[in-house]
Amino acid sequence: MGRVEGKVAFITGAARGQGRSHALRLAQEGADIIAVDFVTPDAHPWMAYRQAEPGQLDETVALVEKTGRRIVARRADVRDRASLLAALDAGLAEFGHVDVVSANAGICPIGSNSWEIPEQQWTDMLATNLTGVWNTTSVCVPPMIEAGRGGSIIITSSGAGTKGVPNLADYCASKFGVIGLMKSLANEVARFTIRVNALTPGTVATDMVLNDGLYRLFRPDLDNPTQEDAAAIFTNMVNAMPVPWVEPVDISNALLFLASDEARYVTGQVFGVDLGSSIK
Ligand SMILES: NC(=O)c1ccc[n+]([C@@H]2O[C@H](COP(=O)([O-])OP(=O)(O)OC[C@H]3O[C@@H](n4cnc5c(N)ncnc54)[C@H](O)[C@@H]3O)[C@@H](O)[C@H]2O)c1
Repeated sequence: MGRVEGKVAFITGAARGQGRSHALRLAQEGADIIAVDFVTPDAHPWMAYRQAEPGQLDETVALVEKTGRRIVARRADVRDRASLLAALDAGLAEFGHVDVVSANAGICPIGSNSWEIPEQQWTDMLATNLTGVWNTTSVCVPPMIEAGRGGSIIITSSGAGTKGVPNLADYCASKFGVIGLMKSLANEVARFTIRVNALTPGTVATDMVLNDGLYRLFRPDLDNPTQEDAAAIFTNMVNAMPVPWVEPVDISNALLFLASDEARYVTGQVFGVDLGSSIK
């Protein structure tokens, strides 16, 4: 208990999945939360899965409040810097400062060779996963510097940000891109005792993965692949450890370490939680 006591964390994509788990885990360890999500289920009609429903952000609020910590939740789109700034300002008005940033919101369209990716998909992907992270860090850094309290920025990349994955070229490009942003930013803000690191999760059991589109990508040999069919591929072929995917809290525990003062001299690093998929 108390590993991030007194800190305030700004988290994007916090309505469900890893973002919600990060909010809850940090709150359990003493942080107050500024939670952001665009909660626009049909934002990308061409995708195989929907984005978060408005009620899911309310559920995150209820879960954090149950821990006894405070939370300010706002609807904001990481592609729209003004909406992020408004959410951050609402949090700063309540809490006075921000110490931890989790640039977590992201999307994962699948299924095309790189030369066949529709232009709209490429543009939306980069706008969300790359420009959205840049927007997030860019609104948060100035008040962090001004507060003079140091801080920790954690960017969610992916195992797909460390190696090429066929049919995911746009996603890979965005996830490699945020690692470049992380390393540059880490240099820029080190003198303010602000650390910047990236997480590279392997496969995580969230809506991004547990959907028919992804099952089909990994089981093209089957007409109607199920979750179990896809799990077999992850267990036997993708991961070194014989487990198909990690739970969101496994990523949150790594994020908690990077957010805490236990990691006070860790910056510019790429931190994998991936069942050994990167060594296989
Ligand atoms: N699930 C995995 O296997 C996996 C693996 C590696 C990395 N990641 C990354 O982890 C992060 C979290 O994904 P997740 O697994 O929790 O998936 P998820 O789809 O459950 O959660 C993503 C959240 O981001 C929100 N979001 C999407 N676009 C947004 C936008 N423009 N503005 C604001 N909010 C937006 C969604 O509404 C949703 O709540 C993403 O960056 C993803 O790329 C996921």
